[in-house]
Amino acid sequence: MNWYDRHLLPYLIDFACGLPMVQQQRRQLVPKAHGRVLEIGMGTGRNLPFYDRSRVTRLVGVDPAMQMHHLAQKRSQKAGIDVELMGLSAEQLPTADASFDTVVCTYTLCSIPDAVQALREMRRVLVPGGQLLFCEHGRAPDLGVRRWQERLQPLWGPLAGGCQLGRDIPDLLAEAGFSANTQSAYLAGPRPMTFHYWGEAQAD
Ligand SMILES: C[S@@+](CC[C@H](N)C(=O)[O-])C[C@H]1O[C@@H](n2cnc3c(N)ncnc32)[C@H](O)[C@@H]1O
Repeated sequence: MNWYDRHLLPYLIDFACGLPMVQQQRRQLVPKAHGRVLEIGMGTGRNLPFYDRSRVTRLVGVDPAMQMHHLAQKRSQKAGIDVELMGLSAEQLPTADASFDTVVCTYTLCSIPDAVQALREMRRVLVPGGQLLFCEHGRAPDLGVRRWQERLQPLWGPLAGGCQLGRDIPDLLAEAGFSANTQSAYLAGPRPMTFHYWGEAQAD
């Protein structure tokens, strides 16, 4: 791993993931998590302050980027919520089938190399009737914006930890066997980066 990815990227991601409109998305989504919760790609722990501690019985976080874990641990202490943080990739979870009530995945499907495989794993570990809570940026509906997503991708990807600007989140969810109640809209900011999809998904 190069110097940029190890030392600078965690703070840049933490900054971008803490922008006000992003925090507002978290505020709406994350308190819905309940029971045994698995958070995919916990990053610097930006969701931690938004969990409803009275409804969460166990919180496990996975993220292969160990250089972000210390920031997530700090946030967990500050938020007063315990998290079992593991340096794992979402594509292969060493977790029993049907062992979580809620999976939380925010701003992470853009960065997971095999997002469909990761979503299949999320589906596998959810109990029947369990929910995936998601909020992601992705493929814009407007052709002009999509062209910018394609133009910017070669520069953006290496600078943003492999983030793909144009992932079609509803398609990925459907391919992995989720049926989703999805909202979508542009949020504030540059349009190639800010078309959002969010909602709740259940196994078909
Ligand atoms: C833009 S950050 C978002 C962090 C956090 N989810 C949030 O909402 O602030 C993307 C995260 O996806 C993580 N990631 C990348 N590949 C992954 C994988 N294969 N499995 C799980 N997480 C992954 C990155 O390490 C990074 O922490």
